[in-house]
Amino acid sequence: MKIAIGCDHGGFEHKNAIKDHLIERGFEVTDCGIYENVSVDYPDIAVKVCDEITSGRCERGILVCGTGIGMSLTANKIKGIRAAALSDHYSAKYTRLHNNSNILCLGGRVVGIGTALELADLFVDTEYEGGRHQRRLDKIAELENR
Ligand code: RB5
Repeated sequence: MKIAIGCDHGGFEHKNAIKDHLIERGFEVTDCGIYENVSVDYPDIAVKVCDEITSGRCERGILVCGTGIGMSLTANKIKGIRAAALSDHYSAKYTRLHNNSNILCLGGRVVGIGTALELADLFVDTEYEGGRHQRRLDKIAELENR
């Protein structure tokens, strides 16, 4: 599985740690920046990771900012993106099982790096259940045309 990853200055260390961890685990990771810890506008990075997903070049994405919220607000503006900002293991598992989320958003100022790695693992390792959940995702997709 190919994974796109990106961050702003609120998540630089977390992004690099998650990237190294996923590469160590055998995943192919596309790093959309930032590449040095300078202040940037999180939408500029979020859109790069979203482009990797919507183009089909990557299957899933991970975005890290200070809270995870700005990244998720941006990513969810883009058609076909289902981004989940979360900080607990239950949500990381169920946003894959039930929401088929394709982007995980984490807060570098909210969770420690150890927790971030575990949440990333759950996100990439858990498969979507489908079934009754697809009807609900179809309803979300319809709203993208409003
Ligand atoms: C940057 O200071 C901060 O606002 C950003 O990383 C993020 O937390 C926004 O949601």
